[in-house]
Amino acid sequence: MQTQPNYGIDAPNVIRNLLIASACATPIALFGPPILRIGSLEIGLHPMAWSIAIYCTLSAGFMLLYAKFGKFRHRDRMLNLHAWTGTENVLDVGTGRGLLLVGAARKLTSGHATGIDVWNKEDLSGNALDRTQQNLALEGVTAKCTLRSEPAQSMSFRSNTFDVILSNLCLHNIYDKPTRIQACNEIARVLKPGGIAILSDYKLTAEYEKTLRSAGLQVQGKFPNMLTTFPPLRIIVARKP
Ligand SMILES: C[S@@+](CC[C@H](N)C(=O)[O-])C[C@H]1O[C@@H](n2cnc3c(N)ncnc32)[C@H](O)[C@@H]1O
Repeated sequence: MQTQPNYGIDAPNVIRNLLIASACATPIALFGPPILRIGSLEIGLHPMAWSIAIYCTLSAGFMLLYAKFGKFRHRDRMLNLHAWTGTENVLDVGTGRGLLLVGAARKLTSGHATGIDVWNKEDLSGNALDRTQQNLALEGVTAKCTLRSEPAQSMSFRSNTFDVILSNLCLHNIYDKPTRIQACNEIARVLKPGGIAILSDYKLTAEYEKTLRSAGLQVQGKFPNMLTTFPPLRIIVARKP
């Protein structure tokens, strides 16, 4: 049983693989032969091995910094893009361990926040519904929140249900493009007229923008904050007329 809220480490397997690559490249950079010969091709092995070791170590380090500190700044940046009244009905798509759900719930008075997820372990360390429920309890927002196990691409909510829809680092985990487009269309469908969707991801945001525009939403992109997010996370704000 955890005693402190814990929002997990994003893409833990990617971080592990970067550290393994760095651990393999470093001894080659230090002790390997300076030149690698493949047939008539000669490659300077030390600069290549150093580049891999440095790139992988820095990438893993920045990803960990985002997971431990940057994600809270990024959450605040996303939430500050909406003028909260406290009465909103909010949906967090791919809530994971509840980062945005808890942030949104803190802004609510009579409103309610729902988080949906499929709880993929490889997308976030310790990703499980009961752990998210524990975070909600530790943050004192249980009464304002509901968690549901359901996929972004086939939501059970009625059309025009939510005033605010949030989603961070979720949609790229849907690897198949038609299903991702379906998830964006679901977001457009369950958003109320006059509502706002604030979505963030490190890639594919142009595809989300295009899909949401085709669904009739007005979309605006924001520059990523390179200091607090790694990989840099782009935010898109979509309003339903
Ligand atoms: C990197 S985590 C981010 C979690 C949270 N949004 C955050 O910022 O801390 C991505 C989340 O998306 C969820 N996810 C992946 N595919 C999904 C899908 N098709 N429908 C709903 N959630 C999904 C994963 O289970 C995971 O919890």
